[in-house]
Amino acid sequence: MVLLTHSTVSVIVSTGIFVIFTSLLFLSGYALQQQSVRNIQHAIRPPDQPKAHLYKRSSQDSQSDLDFDAQQEVIEELQPEIPARTTGNYAYLQLLSEPDPSNICSAIVLFKQLFANGTAIQDRLFMYPREWDTMSFSKPISTALSLLHAASLQYGIWLLPIDMKAATSAGYAITDTKLLRIGQIQFMQYDGVLFLQTPGLLLDSTKLDSVLTSRPLPLRHDKKRVESYNNEAWIPVPLRAEREADLPPVYLITVNNIENGNIEARGHIPNVALDGFGRIVTGPWGVQSGEPGYVFFERDIDGKVKWEHNPLFGSWRAQQYEVCDGLDFDDVYDDDDL
Ligand SMILES: *[C@@H]1O[C@H](CO)[C@@H](O)[C@H](O)[C@H]1NC(C)=O
Repeated sequence: MVLLTHSTVSVIVSTGIFVIFTSLLFLSGYALQQQSVRNIQHAIRPPDQPKAHLYKRSSQDSQSDLDFDAQQEVIEELQPEIPARTTGNYAYLQLLSEPDPSNICSAIVLFKQLFANGTAIQDRLFMYPREWDTMSFSKPISTALSLLHAASLQYGIWLLPIDMKAATSAGYAITDTKLLRIGQIQFMQYDGVLFLQTPGLLLDSTKLDSVLTSRPLPLRHDKKRVESYNNEAWIPVPLRAEREADLPPVYLITVNNIENGNIEARGHIPNVALDGFGRIVTGPWGVQSGEPGYVFFERDIDGKVKWEHNPLFGSWRAQQYEVCDGLDFDDVYDDDDL
């Protein structure tokens, strides 16, 4: 036990007070400085900043895509603060883990039509493994990819190359679900992103838009908003990248920063039992019974589109040839004929 004299105690106390005041002074100065940095960032931010970030980030997030926490830091750096949006910010998503020319051209057809018909949804996204950018492919694939690049400028498509090295070097095959699992971090600036399976055909863009605009969406989980956890039109379906290779044919994705630096990623499918709503996006079987907005096609085991019992096959093929002139989709492609 140490005995303290009266003067030692008073020195300790006054030193303590000095330290506290200095710290307070430092902290308030720091807070003020941060405040003004934010104001400056706010003032110089261009109006379409989310897109710029999307683009910037997609070309920078090279390392460790699997590590969500590390990625989040990168994102926070690039994205000091996105102001809360009053109106929703949405995007349509096409995603391919295999460079199939027919599917690539099907995505171009969809985006071209959405663009031409003035969709109410702000953004159109195409997600693919970044490895495609540096690989050498057979002629049909490289032709389809360069047509996609040209279309991205013409029809305002945001290309999202996702670095899959972390997955492939760990021995995983690249599947649609894995690509989305790693790439979805790019969706933080959206309230929601609607994935539509490729191949498929758009029949009515206004109708398709109504999937996102006609009913309250679940989006971010919020105790104060009942639709966020108890939604008549949307059923929660988590992304199971470890167990399943394919995504649901229509899938609403919402990714947000939540407390303690965690990221909340939610997935929902439309309630097909809900009259009218459940059939806006449908398989070929839904074409007769009503007016769908988008029809996704089924694929054979070998990945080719099933044309039997698909009344839209002919019109879809014709539109593919329109955007991808010079390709022959009735040919068989494989990666061996490089
Ligand atoms: C595009 O708009 C035209 C004219 O309004 C309409 O006839 C056509 O069905 C629309 N196409 C799609 C795919 O929405």
